[in-house]
Amino acid sequence: MIPSETLQTLERVVVRARVGAPTLPLESLIARAKQLLPTLAEAADLELPARRLLPLGPEIEASHGLVGRTAFAEAFIATLALERAPWLDGTGLPDSVLERYPAVYARLASFLMSGRDASYWVGDDAFLKDLRIVGGFSVSGAGAQDIDLVGTISKGSGLKAMVKQRDFRNGLAVLRVGGPAWFTVHTDSRYIEEFNEAGWDACYLRTADLLRVRPEVKGLVGTSWFYDPQLETISPRLLYLRKNPLSRGAFMICNGPADVHTERATRKSEARRKAYEEGKYHPACFTIVWPRAALLAWADSFQKPSAIKRQARVA
Ligand SMILES: CC(C)(COP(=O)(O)OP(=O)(O)OC[C@H]1O[C@@H](n2cnc3c(N)ncnc32)[C@H](O)[C@@H]1OP(=O)(O)O)[C@@H](O)C(=O)NCCC(=O)NCCS
Repeated sequence: MIPSETLQTLERVVVRARVGAPTLPLESLIARAKQLLPTLAEAADLELPARRLLPLGPEIEASHGLVGRTAFAEAFIATLALERAPWLDGTGLPDSVLERYPAVYARLASFLMSGRDASYWVGDDAFLKDLRIVGGFSVSGAGAQDIDLVGTISKGSGLKAMVKQRDFRNGLAVLRVGGPAWFTVHTDSRYIEEFNEAGWDACYLRTADLLRVRPEVKGLVGTSWFYDPQLETISPRLLYLRKNPLSRGAFMICNGPADVHTERATRKSEARRKAYEEGKYHPACFTIVWPRAALLAWADSFQKPSAIKRQARVA
């Protein structure tokens, strides 16, 4: 399933670590790191798989510096990817998700190979996203969109929406459905080529396929500054992110502002940064909740006309 050139590149990442840091006990470190990884159930805490590795960092740095830590981080991710590759077909994932793996592995191999990024470790978003994919906690929904398989919605966020935003209807809905058994969608900013309406729809369709094979999962949750209605005037090209799920049966609550959301919202856009500095934009975070039945109903209605269009093209 994964092309042999990709697997060979991943193997070269491991070999490079061995050659670059010959005295690093790579095999025993990798074995220890694997034991530290949480189970699927524990991994509902998004950052836990990375946090569990934290104690290894100072130990490697003390003997081999940051270069050794980076070599280990890259080799560890490459090793998990290589070990997972032969088992992908047996994971029970739908075909539409499995078909993402060759591209996902190819971009991972090329990222690791071109790496030597000293921040690639616990606390770094790229490391976290890669660890969740190769650890089997997340899958790729489309270019930038990863679907986490063991997500949660905190009931506390529903309570907060009721108390702080006086949003009783949606706050109560979150209180009612909150807890585990949700897919959550996350953005990997390294790969934004499909960060557009079609890419997000492809991600939602894969989510629907995942929901069909995981009947216990309650739906899809996304949390971000980019669902904010204030973007209507400042970043209208991002409006589809909120409007599409909401018009297809999702609902939304406001989580309020925080420094992390301000930093992310203003990082890439001059327009948002300027509006923020001028006091015209106050970044806030929102959670979109798209219940299973509504998402599946939308996917069914979406797929019917597109199937007809495909047939028409063939004819
Ligand atoms: C979320 C994110 C990937 C969206 O990227 P995006 O689709 O390029 O959208 P942005 O609005 O952020 O685009 C940034 C700039 O590029 C411009 N741009 C993006 N795509 C463009 C296109 N196709 N044509 C012309 N300009 C474009 C935008 O106009 C914007 O500049 P402006 O707002 O000053 O006009 C990006 O903002 C990001 O990486 N943010 C930081 C990390 C983050 O927030 N991650 C999500 C955490 S929940």
